[in-house]
Formats: sequence, structure tokens, C-alpha cells
Amino acid sequence: MTEAVRYEREGSVAVITVANPPVNALGLAVRQGLWQAIDRFAEDDAEIALIVGEGRLFIGGADISEFGKPPVEPYLPDVCTHIERSTKPVVAAVHGPALGGGCEVALGAHYRLAIKGAQFGFPEVKLGLIPGAGGSQRMPRLTGVGPALEMMPAGGSVTADEALEIGLVDRVAEGDAREAGLAYARELLESGAPVRAVGTLPRPADDAAAFDAARALWQKKSRGEVAPLRAIDAIEAATKMDLDEGVREERRIFLELMETPQRAGLIHAFFNDRKVAKLPEIEGIAPRNMAHVGVIGGGTMGAGIATACLLSGLSVTLIERDAAAADKARGTITANLDAAVKRGKLPADRRDATLSQLSTVTDYAELSDCDLAIEAVFEDMAVKHEVFARLDAVMKPGAILATNTSYLDVNEIAAATRRPSDVIGLHFFSPAHVMKLLEVVVADATAADVTATAFALAKRLGKIAVRAGVCDGFIGNRMLATYRGAADRMILDGASPWEIDAAIKAFGLPMGPFEMSDLAGLDIGFMTRKRKAATRDPRDVVPTWADAMYHEGWLGQKTGQGYYVHEGRKATPNEAVKPLIEAARGDRPQRTFTPEEIQRVYMAAMVNEAAKVLGEEIARRPLDVDVTLLYGYGFPRWRGGPMQWADTVGLPALLTDINEWSKADPYFWQPAPLLEQLVTEGRCFADLNKEAAQ
Ligand code: NAI
Repeated sequence: MTEAVRYEREGSVAVITVANPPVNALGLAVRQGLWQAIDRFAEDDAEIALIVGEGRLFIGGADISEFGKPPVEPYLPDVCTHIERSTKPVVAAVHGPALGGGCEVALGAHYRLAIKGAQFGFPEVKLGLIPGAGGSQRMPRLTGVGPALEMMPAGGSVTADEALEIGLVDRVAEGDAREAGLAYARELLESGAPVRAVGTLPRPADDAAAFDAARALWQKKSRGEVAPLRAIDAIEAATKMDLDEGVREERRIFLELMETPQRAGLIHAFFNDRKVAKLPEIEGIAPRNMAHVGVIGGGTMGAGIATACLLSGLSVTLIERDAAAADKARGTITANLDAAVKRGKLPADRRDATLSQLSTVTDYAELSDCDLAIEAVFEDMAVKHEVFARLDAVMKPGAILATNTSYLDVNEIAAATRRPSDVIGLHFFSPAHVMKLLEVVVADATAADVTATAFALAKRLGKIAVRAGVCDGFIGNRMLATYRGAADRMILDGASPWEIDAAIKAFGLPMGPFEMSDLAGLDIGFMTRKRKAATRDPRDVVPTWADAMYHEGWLGQKTGQGYYVHEGRKATPNEAVKPLIEAARGDRPQRTFTPEEIQRVYMAAMVNEAAKVLGEEIARRPLDVDVTLLYGYGFPRWRGGPMQWADTVGLPALLTDINEWSKADPYFWQPAPLLEQLVTEGRCFADLNKEAAQ
């Protein structure tokens, strides 16, 4: 037996305990230990075996430290089959999450006891895979194909009670897994319960309509991601093959997916979620205390930020300009909390207590005991200056003063105070209580413990924080301005907004840039152009048709028309935009674009700007860019992020394209020095990530 798995006797019960802290992951020692324990059970005079996990859960999934390495025997599918083939009954008592491999081990057992609080599921698709140890074959034999089709393509899970309802487990109990498991094992023994291998149960009934419906749903939902559709194929195999053949088919699909760039992209994203907060500048630095947050401005962003803070148990004082605006903000926040109750994000019995942590006021003096103030007033430097001067006057020493500005210079905002080291940018995304990304904008004078507090706040709010430096638009909006600019140029060269949107969606984004304009409101872009007009380079392209649309009052969804005509949820191309575009094109030569060309231009612009952002150290590592685009801009997770995409297609080819395009438009297509350097040195963005980690 390995140290990770113990074998003991409790009378006629053989207790097999998986003890591989912290999460009993299925590394080699656990797989070997389980195998040997089943062998020992076969030789022993014990009459029934009980598998339990020590610590806070039964068995976690695969061992992430083995990711990317060649698998070593015994393989998990064989371990599960070995358990199942025991000639004496085996029971699994499951507590805590049993996801992926943990669930598959439980399915290898003949009986399953779920302890309240247990969770059963298959998250493999989130890493670009499908269950790889018989899960897709055994689960449908117990539950029928319906629940498996619901769970596996989504990477979902069920609670103990739900598992009982769908037949995934045999019983639910309270208390300690080992004790409850022993009681259940003894009961089974007394009743003469037979060996009941899931794999020998009849094949689940084929249900063509259910498979058709699941495929149609995931074709649409997965936006190019293949694993959910392959999970459906694997479940279908269970209806047609015996267990051994089905497990081989599942394995074949699993190994095929293992080799895909999608799998690489999802693994990249998975590790980046963890690496993004690992910053040398805040390592070992204690964050400041955080209990009471002030929010200044209760509009779109302020109300969302206040909601996010309340939902994570912070108390909030929100300042508005007058009582009517303060009441309106309270109304929005109340509605947000009610919606959170509906979505199961806030227990109904916590709703009133949570709301009681909110005060909406008009007097800045009420902020005097706040630990942190987040400003979300109009995007105007004069207004920001005035607000920060007032905050400086009332906030207690050591309090943090943060701005949610989208574009403005945080150094300049900090200069309005006598404590620039306490000032930082906290750039939330709309809706702020839903969107996961928080750009933490570190200004020149920002103290390290202020940055550390911003990262701690993000964690508390359930968000992912990315460190950014000060520039117009920080990481995300600066890149957006550039790839958006590329889309506008393609329009002038002959592409239509609707072709561009379709191509970008086919690439995997939830929305194209022009749908995005309609959603955000065309007034936003107009105001931004106005703000930048004074400093605009004369060689820059201005989307004059978009200005014309603004003047027509076509502001997008909120006015019923923009690039699309909006009727309820239906959006159809707005033909009336065409003449405005024609007028802007003038006698510029026109050409057609394939969807691939559109994607190539858009992505090259994104990557080139990202390389500038990296070169200027606005983003410290390529992974910071990838995380920003994934969580703030809907970039498809299965592509890992734009930097990962660039590495996949190859930097030399991208640079060749950019150099070619720069012949016709040298102003827009200036290759990023970092991109040129990487190509010259034969390196890629992943190399920069590796170097940063050393
Ligand atoms: P908004 O116009 O919806 O809300 C601004 C609110 O601030 C208004 O309710 C206004 O009454 C209040 N206000 C103005 N001056 C004030 C003062 N001196 N004291 C107290 N309250 C005051 O604007 P929105 O969209 O919420 O934007 C706020 C900030 O957030 C801007 O800096 C914007 O660039 C930034 N931002 C906006 C995003 C968006 O998607 N709307 C996303 C991320 C950042």
C-alpha cells in the first residue's frame, strides 16, 4: 500500500482511506494505493469494502502537477474497472466535492452513499476534455442519458439530494463519512446485498430526440468549443456499446481532445487564473483593513460596485449629488440584490440584513470612517479632481482612495490629494456586480500595501484582479480602442459592420464590435472621440458614419436602432446605415473580406497593441493581457487569450502581415517593438510568462 491510501479492518469491513492532502487528488500514489487495496481486499476475509476520503473531501480530481506529463500506470480507467470487478461488494461514502476523477472512482464502487454537502459532477469540459475514466459510460447506466446530457457538456454538478433523485447515488446520510459509511456497509452486509457493478447494468436507452436537442443547444452555446459536443458523443456511445468498448471509445475521444489547441488554451487559462495574483511587489505584504466601503456616484457603475461590496459582506456608504439621485441609486441596488436572491447568489433570509448595510447619503462627511472609497462619478478630470479633493479632506488617515475611471490619468487624479500613495485605480467592468474582471491600476506613487489591498478586495468580491499601469485605457480599453479602430478601417475598405460582427462571433466572441456599440450606446464612442479630438493625429481614421448615426439619434439598443434595428430581443441589420458608410468611404478603393481575413486583421491589431502595452510595462506579463481579455471582453476561454492565440498562429507570420499592411497604412500598422524583438530572437509570449515566473 502507498502512504496515500490506508487499508484497515473494522470487523468484516475493509476500510480503504484515501489520505493525500490537501484534496486527495488522484496522483500516481493514490491510483496505485487503490489498486493494491482492492487486491488486498480480494485476499482478505473481509466481506465488504468501504472507500472513504480523509480530510475535507472524498477524492479530488486529477493531480494538476501531473498535467502535461505522460500518464503513468495504473491509469484511472483501469483503477475504476479494478474496483468494479471486485467479487465482493465495494461501497463509496462520499463527502465534499467529488468532481471528475473522484466521481468516477465512486461510480466504480457497487454502492454509493452521499453525505449531505457532497457534490457530484464532471468539470472536464472546462479543461477542454471529457470524463476520462468511464464517467460518461457509467453515469448514464445509472441515471439514463437525460441527466448526463445536462451535466457533462456543461461541466456541471449536482448536490447529494439531486444525485439521489437522479439515481447517481443510493442513499444520502448526515454526519461523518467514515461512520455513516461503516453503518451503511454493515447494513448492506446484513441484507446480503450483492455485488452490483454499474458497468454490467443494461445500456441506457437511446433517445435520439434528447441527443439532437443537446447537440443543437451546444452547437449554439459553445461558440466553437469542441469538448461539450464530444461529451455528447461519448454519452451516446454508452447507448450503443458494452462497457469495455464504451470506455475505450471515451478514452479515444479523451486522448484526441488532449492533443487539441483548445485543451492547451483552457489549461493556459486555468493556470493563469492562479498566476495572475502572484506579483513580487505584493508578496508578503499585508493588506490594509477593509470593512466599510464608500462609493461616490450611484449611476451605472457606482450602484453595481456597491452591490458587489454588499454581496461580499462589506458595509457601504454611497454618496450622490442630491437626495433624488441617492434614492434612485438605492432603488437600483435593491433591485440588484433581489435579482441576486432570485439567481441563488444571496440567501433570501440574508436579503434584509444585507440591504441594512447600505446607507445612501449626500454628505461627504459620512465617509469619514470608511476604509476605502471608490469613486464612480462622471468621466471628467475636473469632476474627478473636485471629488478627490473632498475625499482627501474627510477620509481618515490610512484610508484608500480609488477611482473607477475608464481612461483618465490616475497620477493626475492622485495629484488632487495630499496622499497620492493611498490612491489607486480600481477599474470595474459593467455590470460591476456580475463581471469578473478588476483592473488594478497602480499609479507612480501608489503604496505596495494599497495594491495588496486591491488584490485582497478583488478576492473578497469573487473577482479576478489584473495589475495594470497608467495609460489611456489601461490594458483592456487601450487594446479595445485599437482593434475597434481596425474594424472601422475594414469598413472603409469595403467590409460591412454585419460581416465583421459575424466573423468575430465565428471566432468565438459573444458579440461583434458593432453589436457591442449598440449595447453600450453610440453616445459613449461619440463622447470618447470628442474627448480625444484635440490630441488626435491627423492620420488617424475617424468613423464619420458613427458620428452621423449619433446625430440621427441612433444610439443603439436604448433608442431601438443603431447598427441594428432592435425589436424586443430581435436585431436585424439597419439598412439606413449603409448610405452613411458609403458617404464616409468616398472614392477610397473597395475590396471584399473573407471572415478569416476579418478575424486576422482584428486579432493582429489586438496582439500588436498588446505587445505595445507589454513593451511599456502597462501589463507586466502576457498572461495579464490574456486574463484581462478573457474576463473583461468575452474573449473565448478555449483560445486561452490573445497572447496564447498569437503564439499558436506564430509571431513571425503575424509580423509579416502587419508589415505588409503598414505599406498602405503606416500610421495604424506600426509594428510593436516587442513583437519585432521576439521574432528576431525566435521567442514567443509564453517565454515571457516563463521568465516572469522565475
Ligand atoms: P453614470 O453617469 O451612470 O453615473 C455617474 C453618477 O455619478 C451619476 O449618478 C451622478 O449623479 C454621480 N455624480 C456625479 N458627480 C458627483 C459628485 N460630485 N458626487 C457624487 N456623485 C456624483 O456613469 P457611469 O457609467 O457609472 O460611470 C462612472 C465612472 O465609471 C466613469 O469614470 C466611467 O468612465 C467609469 N466606468 C464606466 C463603465 C461603464 O461601462 N459605464 C465601465 C467602467 C468604468
